[in-house]
Amino acid sequence: MTQEHYEPEVHYDRVTEAWALLLGAELHYGVFPTGSEPLDVATGELTARMIQAAQLSAGQRVLDVGCGSGAPAVRLALDHGVEVVGITTSQIGVDAATARAARAAVSGVTFEQRDGTDNKFADESFDRVWVLESSHLMPARNNLIAECARVLRPGGRVVLCDLIRRREIPFTEVRSRRDDFATLRAAFGAARMDPLDDYVALMEGAGLVVDTAVDLTLETLPTFDRWRGTAAQHHDAVIDILGADALAAFEASCDILEGFWRDGTLGYGLVSASKPAS
Ligand SMILES: C[S@@+](CC[C@H](N)C(=O)[O-])C[C@H]1O[C@@H](n2cnc3c(N)ncnc32)[C@H](O)[C@@H]1O
Repeated sequence: MTQEHYEPEVHYDRVTEAWALLLGAELHYGVFPTGSEPLDVATGELTARMIQAAQLSAGQRVLDVGCGSGAPAVRLALDHGVEVVGITTSQIGVDAATARAARAAVSGVTFEQRDGTDNKFADESFDRVWVLESSHLMPARNNLIAECARVLRPGGRVVLCDLIRRREIPFTEVRSRRDDFATLRAAFGAARMDPLDDYVALMEGAGLVVDTAVDLTLETLPTFDRWRGTAAQHHDAVIDILGADALAAFEASCDILEGFWRDGTLGYGLVSASKPAS
């Protein structure tokens, strides 16, 4: 595959249908408070942690940056009475999310193909900005956070959760583990994980006041075990959609990522911040 195949818009156009089988309706990790929750309950729990940090109330306008196939956005609108504009660089994601909202017969939820690092919405036009596991796909992370801060109204909040890097990875290690990194890239597309503190610094640099920065590494660890289960359950269907190599890369990635979670290299974090009322 060429470099272009790993770019998020190409990658998500390719994987969205299969991801529904492997990851579930919500295309993100799960939080497992007891460790025994099924995957859909755990992905719902991560969304619940974001909702709690977002401090939603009815009538607010929410920008969902990296909306996937729309499951979190539809939940926010149905359960909390907010208006949601979901954006993603994947047109297939926009189509899937629009169809999901129509099936749910929910109003006030729309999806558009836009880039989170240059969203072109008006300044101060949203009450909340929601970034659920999409930032690791945006190398221009400073632009993403600057855009989040720009479109927030004074008094508004941004909530973000994502994979994080928990230690330096020396170049020699990157080189010696290049096959593992290539497998991760084949399965999940081009990505860069940053420390939780870097997100805090970027938000503070954008004039936001950070009030939450939590490490969810331990609570997200069982995700890999559940993904192995969905890969086995949907083995043939995923091969039909993506091919045998892609399924093998996904399965191998579960082991590689679980190792990184256990040895303190990678993990998961959630950050929330407010924009000072002027
Ligand atoms: C792991 S999925 C998360 C989807 C969704 N937030 C959820 O939790 O179900 C990552 C999403 O980020 C989107 N994405 C990647 N790069 C993006 C960018 N530069 N701007 C907007 N969305 C982007 C992908 O297309 C995909 O929808």
